[in-house]
Amino acid sequence: MSDLKHQLAMERRLARRQRRREEYHRGLRPMAIAAWNITKEHNVGSLVRTAHAAAAAEVVLVGEREWNVEAAKTSELYTTVTQLADIEAFRKHLESRRWNLVAVELDHRAVNLFDAEYPERPCFLLGAEVGGLPGELLDEAEMVVQIPQWGLVPSLNLAIAGSIVVYDYLGKLHGEARLNRPDGGLLDQNAGEPEGGYDVDHKG
Ligand SMILES: C[S@@+](CC[C@H](N)C(=O)[O-])C[C@H]1O[C@@H](n2cnc3c(N)ncnc32)[C@H](O)[C@@H]1O
Repeated sequence: MSDLKHQLAMERRLARRQRRREEYHRGLRPMAIAAWNITKEHNVGSLVRTAHAAAAAEVVLVGEREWNVEAAKTSELYTTVTQLADIEAFRKHLESRRWNLVAVELDHRAVNLFDAEYPERPCFLLGAEVGGLPGELLDEAEMVVQIPQWGLVPSLNLAIAGSIVVYDYLGKLHGEARLNRPDGGLLDQNAGEPEGGYDVDHKG
């Protein structure tokens, strides 16, 4: 390929990537994922990755924690991550953003995931690896949701639990025909590969 052709191809690719970013940001959902005092850095990175895939407006981290960008696989470049010091800052943030708190927890107050009817503007809050969520946040939540389990290990990994609940929420929106961009990038089986190939930032 000549230098000029190569340069033009690069410019087209960059323009296409820019258009996709703008489209992504326009389509962000009024939904947040929050993590309470999570200690394992890769768990936070995995939640950021899910938040990005689901087009959540933001990820909220409560507690001064390091988190693992490697597990996020570049999604941290496109998804807003808000870090808050403590429970008071979190309460204020929920109020200012008009998020409705949905605690994801194994708890006697919880409804079964399969029966869950979520509020508008949900903020799905996941608990720490050890100790889970504090009782006061479970009391303050609009709802507590629990994922049924049949195994002998008593809990799921928190990033997996968050991902399951977020996609249950999206599935229910879809069932009510309220999900924007419902195809989620699934390929039209009749369409060929887009010109210039798929624009993937990172694999893994
Ligand atoms: C490993 S669990 C915490 C386990 C245990 N409750 C503890 O106190 O050590 C971490 C978080 O994952 C989420 N989680 C795990 N399994 C879940 C389930 N079956 N339903 C809802 N949330 C779950 C909750 O947010 C929980 O706080």
